[in-house]
Amino acid sequence: MIEETSEGKDHASRGLLMIPPIKKVGKIGVGVMGSNVAWACVVNGIETYLYDQDPNQLRRAVDRINGWLFDGKLPETEAKEASARLHPCGSLEEAVVDVDLVFESVFEDYAVKKKVHEEIGRVAPPHVLQGTNASSLLCTPSRSIRSP
Ligand SMILES: NC(=O)c1ccc[n+]([C@@H]2O[C@H](COP(=O)([O-])OP(=O)(O)OC[C@H]3O[C@@H](n4cnc5c(N)ncnc54)[C@H](O)[C@@H]3O)[C@@H](O)[C@H]2O)c1
Repeated sequence: MIEETSEGKDHASRGLLMIPPIKKVGKIGVGVMGSNVAWACVVNGIETYLYDQDPNQLRRAVDRINGWLFDGKLPETEAKEASARLHPCGSLEEAVVDVDLVFESVFEDYAVKKKVHEEIGRVAPPHVLQGTNASSLLCTPSRSIRSP
C-alpha cells in the first residue's frame, strides 16, 4: 500500500515507492539469523509471527529469544511486553496472512528459498513485502512475487 501523505505524493510523482510503517512481521526460518531478527523486531515494538518447518527449532527459537529478553538488560516490564509480541505459528500461512513484511531466513540454498518465496507469494496478501536473509545468493524479484 502507498500512503497518501504529501511526501508520498511527492515520491509517487517521482516514480518512487513509499514503504508503509512495518507493524507486523512474518519470520520464516528461525535458526541463528531468524532468532536474531525476531528479537530485534519484538524489542522494537513489532508483532512477530514465527514459523519454522522444524517444530523443535521453533520451540528452541522462542526459548532463545526469551532468554535474551529476560537476561536483565531490559526492564522486566519491557521484556514482558516484547515477549508478548512473539507469536509462534503452526504453518507458514498463519505466519504471513496478516503482516506487513515477510522476512525469510531459511537455509542458504536457492531451491529451498525459491520454494519458500513461491509459497509466500501464494498465501500472503498482495501488499505484503517479501525479504530474504540470503548472504551469498544473488537475488532478483521472482515471478512468484506479485507487484502491489
Ligand atoms: N548465521 C549467520 O551468521 C548469517 C549471517 C548472514 C546471513 N545469513 C543467512 O541467513 C540465512 C539463514 O541462516 P542461519 O545461519 O540462520 O541458518 P540456520 O540453519 O541456523 O537456520 C535456518 C532455519 O531455516 C529452517 N528452514 C529450512 N527450510 C525451511 C522451510 N522450507 N520452511 C521453514 N523453515 C525452514 C530450518 O529448520 C532452520 O531452523 C541464510 O541464507 C544465511 O546465508 C546467516
